[in-house]
Amino acid sequence: MDRVLVTRKISENALTLIRDQDCEVTVYTEQRDLSQHELISLCQNHVALLSVGPNKIDEQFLSACSHLKGIALMSVGYDRVDIGAANRYKIPISNTPDVLSEAAADVAFLLMLSVARKAFYMHKTIERGEWGFFEPTKNLGQELYGKTLGILGLGRIGMEMAKKAKAAYGMSIIYHNRSRNTKAEADLGAAYVTFDELLMKSDVLSVHVNLTDETRGLFNEEAFKRMKPNAIFINTARGAIHNEAHLLTALQNRTIWGAGLDVTNPEPMAKDNPLLQMENVCILPHIGSATEETREKMALMAARNIVKALKGEHMPQVINPEVYHALKSEIKSYS
Ligand code: DGY
Repeated sequence: MDRVLVTRKISENALTLIRDQDCEVTVYTEQRDLSQHELISLCQNHVALLSVGPNKIDEQFLSACSHLKGIALMSVGYDRVDIGAANRYKIPISNTPDVLSEAAADVAFLLMLSVARKAFYMHKTIERGEWGFFEPTKNLGQELYGKTLGILGLGRIGMEMAKKAKAAYGMSIIYHNRSRNTKAEADLGAAYVTFDELLMKSDVLSVHVNLTDETRGLFNEEAFKRMKPNAIFINTARGAIHNEAHLLTALQNRTIWGAGLDVTNPEPMAKDNPLLQMENVCILPHIGSATEETREKMALMAARNIVKALKGEHMPQVINPEVYHALKSEIKSYS
């Protein structure tokens, strides 16, 4: 009987979908991350992996687990995957796009508004017994009406964020992308700008790109210095896209006005990180996709991809489709 490894407790409906293939499912339920060595040895007696959490699907893993029929990530991001190595070892890998776009954009929007109105900090002042008498010039935030929202990476999640900001506050949308988003330009009047213009013109700058060699550390001292002093920086993509020390300095020096993060570097963030105490900063523990509905959809999507992999069929959300061409020509050359 085929065995599938699932690295976290996920929806029972998703597990049932896999079990219904006459398959045994091992769910790793310990409350800690598997080490690379543990993951590799567990995979030895499994034919497919449903990977949840920060497992590194790198050369070391893939070379040791080249027997896997498929790996389904329960995430849209695949920055921990070495695609080149997956192709070399002919392992199809899938992710979970689209189903989390609205939930993830909700968190970007929540952070934008929370930072603008200092919401998290104000909550803490009550807990500290600091809700004193009313002072009209204290606790002032910023309004978002008519401001400019800059989006780095106007893909599925960025587009949802842009739609919400436009509908709620009539914000003007500018964006920087690898390619033009003609739909956003037509539907939202979004304007394509260079990265430098994005830095200089955005009142709120929201990051929605993948973590790659190009985007790692992109928001550093230089970048923050190019931004407006009233700017709010939002990152819900990956923590390594911003330099956390440089962000702290930019906030302390009032180079920029505020920041909202759903992703930090490292994760989890240390509880004594000074960013957590700042008035114009709101931080969440990577909960972009954390709604019951979205996590259910993600788990089911990942499970459906596993089912296809088990049957030797095309995983619908495969991120390295080239692997199938390689597999096909291999089959042909044997026939
Ligand atoms: C994703 O799906 O990539 C989320 O950020 C969770 O990792």
